[in-house]
Amino acid sequence: MKIILLGPPGAGKGTQAQFIKEQLNIPQISTGDMLRAAVSSGSELGNRVKAVMDSGGLVSDEIIIALVKERILEADCADGFLFDGFPRTIPQAAAMEAAGVPIDAVVEIQVDDGELIKRITGRRVHPGSGRVYHVIYNPPKVADVDDESGDPLVQREDDTEETVRDRLAVYYEQTQPLIAHYKGQPSIAYIEVNGQGDVAAIQSAISKGLASGK
Ligand code: AP5
Repeated sequence: MKIILLGPPGAGKGTQAQFIKEQLNIPQISTGDMLRAAVSSGSELGNRVKAVMDSGGLVSDEIIIALVKERILEADCADGFLFDGFPRTIPQAAAMEAAGVPIDAVVEIQVDDGELIKRITGRRVHPGSGRVYHVIYNPPKVADVDDESGDPLVQREDDTEETVRDRLAVYYEQTQPLIAHYKGQPSIAYIEVNGQGDVAAIQSAISKGLASGK
């Protein structure tokens, strides 16, 4: 199954992706995680994208499309994948269509702006695995330490309140148009989920939506 997780920054895409990928046994393809790995490795790509990411802007469609096209050719994507944070613009969606990559379902996670800001500013992440925590809503067992590996957790450089407001503006301008784009396609199951409330209840709503196609 080929699924897109759509929603504003902080909606819980990464959090819910952890459950969906295990349930369906498909890889999570997070363009944000791929770009952050490039930045940490100090690669040429990482150096090119770091400033844009830190400012809350979007990396160019050309770079992102090339990255994703290469990733979905890998063997673990043969039975499907879960896009997390991709596509983010109409040209990115169009590139998948032009490449003949049919999407089965889009899961849109809906959360109010005020809640998004609280979530992002309290987020802590484990860079090695992508595991996500929140200092209040989903704390690790030991403060600032990953539950599974014992590694230290970090705060993302783009998780300041000021940058979050910029990221939200970018979302409404460039990514929100994808909602109408995918809702208009009869071959795609479009699943809308209220992303506020208990993580497990949202997970269950997504599972039901994927099973029923609505
Ligand atoms: P990316 O990493 O994709 O960031 P994002 O879309 O802004 O999404 P986030 O990771 O901020 O949030 P999320 O929805 O995954 O929420 P999470 O589960 O962590 O992109 C980063 C940057 O990379 C972009 O700004 C851009 O520069 C670049 N980029 C990436 N993809 C690109 C693309 N396709 N094109 C161009 N540029 C691209 O949850 C957030 C917090 O809330 C956590 O602390 C979590 O514990 C908590 N939480 C989750 N669910 C709940 C709940 N139900 N109740 C309470 N708290 C909750």
